[in-house]
Amino acid sequence: MKTQDLLSKSAHAMRFSAIRRMSAVIEKPGIISFAPGQPSPETFPVADFDRILRRVVAEEASGAFQYTQTRGFAPLLEAVADYARAKGIESHPAERMITEGSQQGLDLVTRVLVDPGDVVLVESPSYVGALSAFRAARARMVGVGLDEEGLDLDDLRRRVRHERELGHHVKFLYVVPNYQNPSGITHALERRLGLLEAARELELLIVEDDPYGDVYFDQPPPPAIRALDKEGRVLYLSSFSKILAPGLRTAFVIGPETLLAKIEIAKQAANLCGSGLDQRVVLACLREGLIEVQKERIRPYYRGKCQAMLAALSREMPAGVTWTHPTGGLFVWLRLPEGRDAESLLEAAVAEGVAYVPGSPFFAADDDGANTMRLTFAKEDVPKIEDGVRRLAKVINA
Ligand SMILES: Cc1ncc(COP(=O)(O)O)c(C=O)c1O
Repeated sequence: MKTQDLLSKSAHAMRFSAIRRMSAVIEKPGIISFAPGQPSPETFPVADFDRILRRVVAEEASGAFQYTQTRGFAPLLEAVADYARAKGIESHPAERMITEGSQQGLDLVTRVLVDPGDVVLVESPSYVGALSAFRAARARMVGVGLDEEGLDLDDLRRRVRHERELGHHVKFLYVVPNYQNPSGITHALERRLGLLEAARELELLIVEDDPYGDVYFDQPPPPAIRALDKEGRVLYLSSFSKILAPGLRTAFVIGPETLLAKIEIAKQAANLCGSGLDQRVVLACLREGLIEVQKERIRPYYRGKCQAMLAALSREMPAGVTWTHPTGGLFVWLRLPEGRDAESLLEAAVAEGVAYVPGSPFFAADDDGANTMRLTFAKEDVPKIEDGVRRLAKVINA
């Protein structure tokens, strides 16, 4: 029996994440790494987790270690409703669900909406984990132009019409409007409103993924698209990974009731339920106000690192290299002059002691973004950020 012959079409469509494949190269000890797409462990409130976990184990063990509801631990769902309401997002109980990270939310949304060949519109560039979920469902991914103000709405209209003319079923548009991974771009308020107008015109569902909205440096971002939406055409996902810790695997989805009902069934098949233990920890963080304390802690932490990276880029980078100027989140997006290739430069960069993620895996089409790269300022301290940018500039100049 050749197990290779048994694989489903969907499994054939899956690709090992280009970023994970590269981690063998970029995770060398001693290297200055601008590569990982992770929050810094220095921000995890470990002492609070320790205290909360002891209390939960002592007082709530029978619930915490039991299966919990597929939709999530009921008191957490209530607390999430208040948390979202504070962002202007109203919801009925039937519109809410806890997921094991937003990644699971994205996967489940895709499962219930996408048949092979259906179109999913994505930003160019877009979050690579979402692209993996869409690819696994054998979606036809279509990139839409993105600039420093947000989505190119003319391009969106053009592409939707073109796909429909070809007879393709356009299922939804996926956007990360705040401090996007990988570009750091935030959609301006006018673009959000324009997007809703275009979505109304085009009869389009929007999947809004917002794990970074609270990781702003100075001013909060404009309201969530879901908060501006009057028509129920936005499915909103957010996560506690970047504020508390990704190891808690706790996130939430708020969206149209009919979709949530199907997503609940898909979740039963996927994992029955999330972790009642993790969900109780997140609940305690919400009830104790720890989450707000955390937000206040991480904002200056990442702001300082981002400023150091932007200043170093200004000092060190040769003419022709450009980059985004994020006002929150974890990432800066760098563009080399046309014709340069970030992937083939990586080996020299690693030899020079600095790593980054080449940009192509973040695009729907394989031939896009060869001259781009994602840099995170989350991992290294300021002296290393400055040193790393110096090394990177040297490699680019060579
Ligand atoms: C845009 C975006 N969405 C979703 C996720 C998944 O986060 P989690 O599954 O930890 O909630 C990430 C993680 O990096 C992300 O950057």
